[in-house]
Amino acid sequence: MSVNADRLLLFGATGDLAQRMLLPSLCALDADGLLEPDLKIVGTARSEMTSQEYRDWARTALEKNLPDHRRSGVDSFLGRLSYVPVDATTLDGYDELAKEVGTYDKGLAIFLSTAPSLFEPTIDGLVHAGLTEGNVRIGLEKPLGTDLASSEEINNAVAKAFSEDRIFRIDHYLGKETVQNLLALRFANLLFEPVWNATYIDHVQITVAETIGLESRVAYYDDSGALRDMVQNHMLQLLALVAMEPPTSFDSTAVRDEKVKVLRALRPIAKGETVTGQYRAGAVDGAAVPGYDEELGKPSDTETFVALKAHVDNWRWKGVPFYLRTGKRLPERVTEIVIQFRCIPHSIFEGRGASTKPNRLVIGIQPEENVQLSMMAKVPGLDREGIRLRQVPLDIAMPDAFSGTVRRIAYERLLLDLIEGDQTLFVRRDEVEAQWEWIDAIRALWDREEITPKPYGAGSWGPSAAIALAERDGVTWHDE
Ligand code: BG6
Repeated sequence: MSVNADRLLLFGATGDLAQRMLLPSLCALDADGLLEPDLKIVGTARSEMTSQEYRDWARTALEKNLPDHRRSGVDSFLGRLSYVPVDATTLDGYDELAKEVGTYDKGLAIFLSTAPSLFEPTIDGLVHAGLTEGNVRIGLEKPLGTDLASSEEINNAVAKAFSEDRIFRIDHYLGKETVQNLLALRFANLLFEPVWNATYIDHVQITVAETIGLESRVAYYDDSGALRDMVQNHMLQLLALVAMEPPTSFDSTAVRDEKVKVLRALRPIAKGETVTGQYRAGAVDGAAVPGYDEELGKPSDTETFVALKAHVDNWRWKGVPFYLRTGKRLPERVTEIVIQFRCIPHSIFEGRGASTKPNRLVIGIQPEENVQLSMMAKVPGLDREGIRLRQVPLDIAMPDAFSGTVRRIAYERLLLDLIEGDQTLFVRRDEVEAQWEWIDAIRALWDREEITPKPYGAGSWGPSAAIALAERDGVTWHDE
């Protein structure tokens, strides 16, 4: 049984994530009485600032990033904050930091949201200052490396000071309510599990489409690309949740054991199963936008779009393709999972002129949070000219079904779980490494076969080759 930490130490406390997500999430949790009264939050980053200056900075960030109705508790939340500047690359500031953290009778939760190159020196600094002793856990924000080797290096560095049960690797998609709902859908209903296999499912599609472009992340994104930025983590976690066997319980070991089996069963991608793209100038939401290379200011071979046809090589999924695609500057922001069922084995309506379409389950992760099952129904009428059947949706909009409940953003859930020590929604080392192994093989294939990104217009669904990737199998991407 883990004990709630009474100290939270934030590295990268002046960064973009802290500003947009971490501080607003913590403030919202506080306003709802979900943080222990004695929880103190110490921020640290390179910038020279006093605690008062940090609180002023945090107030501005909160005013900008918290909706009006959630700002009531800002003053008392700011009272929890203090700040110590530390240059993470030297050991100098860590003693001061430890002094500010003080004694943590119940526990210390550390959150690292810094460049991965700072992970190792930060761990050294924490060890030096005695901040790894006792009930201490550490949350690590992505990117956790750029390939298997660099990820192992980071994992080894962290493992020097923290055992795996104290390491909380963040994939913020796991903190999303709708992603967790996938587990409820699959394992709290009798209906789906018996048909959740190759006998009844034709294929699966997972789309994570974004309308945004490079934003201000030039340095990071051009070294990363869509495969590492989105597929390695978020999309593979979604795939694992869709494909895994039922865990025996909702606990961190059982759930992660099942996910890792799926990740290890991924078949290496073959040459014809991958398409990459890079956006050119175009229009998104009616506004003209420049191409990737123009935003970057130089030509680049980095992919801003990837489509893959993946396979999970096990009994359940034999012969069922998982089509994955993600990209920037696509026509709409949508994350969804489509489970396309097979045709019925025999139609009793065929002789009466009616055709049937196979069932389809669409799980909307964002921005629409809904579950939609397409079913065949009879069109009302006397049927003198034959029976007519039509596909109709059985539609559950989650916000309507749960109106009156608070919809929390992913980091609220994940920060609270870190403070309370629940690892279920965090990624275990073996998962990350299995993910990288599969991704590295794709990058090696691209290099070997000289596969470079094909251009696509901003505001389109990626290069036409991505459409062909599915259409060759008689599959149409679920664009609406
Ligand atoms: C991040 C990626 O992990 O996820 C970004 O680095 C991406 O490139 C973001 O935009 C998407 O997250 P969300 O929650 O907006 O879907």
